[in-house]
Amino acid sequence: MATSKNEKIGIIGSGLIGRSWSMLFASVGYQVCLYDVEAAQVTAALEDVEEQLKSLEREKLLRGKLTAAQQFALIKGTSSLAQCAKGAALVQECVPENLALKRKVFAELDAVVDGSTILSSSTSTFLPSLFSEGLKNRSQVVVSHPVNPPYYVPLVELVGAPWTDPAVVTRTRSIMKEIGQVPVHLKKEVEGFAVNRIQYAILNTVFHLVADDILSVEDVDNVMSEGLGMRYAFLGPLETAHLNAEGMRNYCERYASTMHAVSQTFKPAPRFEGPVVEEMARQLERKVPLDGLAARRAWRDDCLTKLSVLKRQTGGQ
Ligand code: NAI
Repeated sequence: MATSKNEKIGIIGSGLIGRSWSMLFASVGYQVCLYDVEAAQVTAALEDVEEQLKSLEREKLLRGKLTAAQQFALIKGTSSLAQCAKGAALVQECVPENLALKRKVFAELDAVVDGSTILSSSTSTFLPSLFSEGLKNRSQVVVSHPVNPPYYVPLVELVGAPWTDPAVVTRTRSIMKEIGQVPVHLKKEVEGFAVNRIQYAILNTVFHLVADDILSVEDVDNVMSEGLGMRYAFLGPLETAHLNAEGMRNYCERYASTMHAVSQTFKPAPRFEGPVVEEMARQLERKVPLDGLAARRAWRDDCLTKLSVLKRQTGGQ
């Protein structure tokens, strides 16, 4: 079987997220070109990616139909941004979250690509209009925001600027699906995109539950991990509501006034500073000391791996 698609993907920035994207694109046969401003980072990234692919293969968790060696052979490093981006179907930018840096990198990319290359950013926070306005290829710019760790958490938020060509979003969406990710498209750019808006709404509410001495930190986390989160791994909040009554209309008939009344008691967004933060940190560090974070992250990733296998077995979405 063919091991390569003869289509190129450029990855700019070879840190945590650049490495993950490289593996995802190679898993279906794209020729991946990985660039970093630090040449030593590219060497380290290639070594790490090879190790990760081999380990995934050993654990039978490797994505795609190619072997680890075939996938690794598709990923090449470069010390030239132009070489990385030229002729690519899509360039995925993965440099640190700093607006001035994103602007600089996109201007550099703009100078070397033609109008057929999709310029995609991994940014977690910056609206695409903030770093694409002055570019001659601005209609080619889109945000493709992954969720860490992307190899096991397939969601990608796609966000265009007002001037992004809809065909660019459509093409990016199909590439994301092809590599096994699950794209969602925000029809307008909005601060926090969808993931962080929802995540911040949860954090705001639980902050007050701790601040008002209603729940301990451990019990807040149990509400999600042993309660709501059990369903949310399989169903979103809207389908959950649909199933929790005789459909969504009936759910709203039954619960709208209660939801509204409870929501009226919500407090304004906290600033996440002061003694409540200290108290949350103290309680969390009792469970996971700061020198135990790496081990706990490894445990989290192992759990997510097993969950992704379970979701595949149960038919996912
Ligand atoms: P990282 O710090 O692990 O890697 C960034 C890499 O970019 C480094 O290797 C650095 O040498 C390189 N770099 C710096 N300046 C550069 C330049 N001018 N040209 C080329 N390479 C350059 O960062 P990470 O975590 O991989 O994040 C990258 C992007 O992905 C950020 O925008 C971040 O917000 C986003 N993101 C990160 C997630 C995470 O959990 N780490 C999750 C989702 C998105």
